[in-house]
Amino acid sequence: MRSKVRYQLLDSSAAPKTCRFLWIILFLIVCFIAYFLLFSTSTKGVFNPLVPDKRNPMTYEQVMKDLRNEIDERNAIISELQKDFEKLELKSELKVLYKRRPETKHVDCGRVLSGDKKYLESVSGGNRVKMVENNDLDMSCAAIMNRILPSTSVLKPLKNGMAFARIVYADYEMIEKQVQMSYHPQNAFCFAIDKKAPPKFHERLRAMAACLPNVLLLPDEDSVDSAGHNINSAHYNCMRVLINKPGWNYVILLQNHDIITKSVYEMEQIYEWLGGANDIEITPESGRLDNKFKWDPKSLKMFRNETGMNQTILNTKMKFAKGAAQGSLSRAAVDWMVRTTDLTTYINQWNKGGFGVDEQFIQSFQVSSDLGMPGHFTDECLKAGKNTDFVSRMSQWMYSGAEHCGSKTIRHAICLLGIEDFRTVAAYPNLMFNKMMPSFDYSIVECTAELLYNRTFLGQVDHKLEEDYYTKMVNVLYHKNHMNPNFKLDCTPSYKQWSQRQYPL
Ligand SMILES: *[C@@H]1O[C@H](CO)[C@@H](O)[C@H](O)[C@H]1NC(C)=O
Ligand SMILES: *[C@@H]1O[C@H](CO)[C@@H](O)[C@H](O)[C@H]1NC(C)=O
Ligand SMILES: *[C@@H]1O[C@H](CO)[C@@H](O)[C@H](O)[C@H]1NC(C)=O
Repeated sequence: MRSKVRYQLLDSSAAPKTCRFLWIILFLIVCFIAYFLLFSTSTKGVFNPLVPDKRNPMTYEQVMKDLRNEIDERNAIISELQKDFEKLELKSELKVLYKRRPETKHVDCGRVLSGDKKYLESVSGGNRVKMVENNDLDMSCAAIMNRILPSTSVLKPLKNGMAFARIVYADYEMIEKQVQMSYHPQNAFCFAIDKKAPPKFHERLRAMAACLPNVLLLPDEDSVDSAGHNINSAHYNCMRVLINKPGWNYVILLQNHDIITKSVYEMEQIYEWLGGANDIEITPESGRLDNKFKWDPKSLKMFRNETGMNQTILNTKMKFAKGAAQGSLSRAAVDWMVRTTDLTTYINQWNKGGFGVDEQFIQSFQVSSDLGMPGHFTDECLKAGKNTDFVSRMSQWMYSGAEHCGSKTIRHAICLLGIEDFRTVAAYPNLMFNKMMPSFDYSIVECTAELLYNRTFLGQVDHKLEEDYYTKMVNVLYHKNHMNPNFKLDCTPSYKQWSQRQYPL
């Protein structure tokens, strides 16, 4: 019964007569108020542009002119305030300098950078600064964020971020420093821990990954060794995790003591110049290939979907090359390695080898142009006896004796980097330097961190990026032009390669 009454009230034709009467009264009241408001305002001091004010007889044009003047005046004040604010901001940024660790507090990185040889002696040789590990490092999330995230300045958004895939086993504080030096909310950091690493190292890395959403830690751990076992699978597992993260367009593959030497803005620019080409070291495969295995894509179960694929390519042995396990891969290449192909069998077969088993992974896909990995290169330069330049990693091989290294120290035929290498670090076009060990020399790590901080937050330009270097690399020109039938591959770059430059500076 109640619902019936409600329907009656909603139906206007069914409204009782008294109700209609009330509506008419309401309408009259509204008319009266409207009349009052419209015709009384001009005499009550409220400005009506259509009726000249009797006490202040200004024309419409005059009023608008006054208003415009007032707006102009206020705009001038606003822009004045804005300028003051910008000046203040600039000042506060300049005031916040990079904070060095206690053991490196006395090191004047700027003086080393300027080439002050006398000063260099006071922080090198017998005066070399080693990192003093902090056993009581505060690993609360607040403390980790406080150390890694920029405290006073805002990072500009990147057109494209970048990803870092790093295999680690030691020196947590240096690893954390690496995240700080390349930190950007758009970047992603994947870590694979060597199973042999001490429990405390595991714990600390887990705490960092639990705290920061763009730090990813692989759950499954294998042992890696100097023969390169399990290096490729660790990097590959990082790729599988990273491909699900948006925001990056290149990944750089790294090992524990590789130090990034370009700021995030510089890396963004360099990768834009590479334009989708992978940057990988290519030298001849040196007889490590085990021919008891089959190496054609079909036997390797490489392509996830072979339907409609060229049978010749599927059944032909792929091509091989050798080079550093570190390198830069475009996002499209990573997507291909993870989603179009499955490289597990390939990686496992190499992993059964004896030495240098990690140095043929990305190289062989890079030169096997028939396989179609995005950003690939070709084996034509190899066939012509030419190794091609790669810029991602700087590593100084030294067979002529330790005295030719900046730090006068060698490890496995590679110069160990010290503070004497700082000018080289700042000047070379490479994205990463191998290797710096905090137990040998920490001021080179700290000064590099200060250098990147100065470039990132203080806008300092100590060395302009060599645009010609990156845009004229043989692999970059090949990637850009190889579909053009008139393109002729020239395996010798037009610029002076970093490996042929003076070392150390
Ligand atoms: C970083 O900038 C500060 C302030 O200008 C300067 O004192 C310092 O020497 C710079 N360090 C490097 C490595 O450029
Ligand atoms: C495999 O590739 C063929 C040809 O490109 C396509 O028609 C088919 O849908 C693919 N199969 C799967 C499972 O993706
Ligand atoms: C298959 O690939 C080979 C090698 O690249 C090529 O010579 C051949 O023309 C291709 N066949 C077809 C049907 O595309």
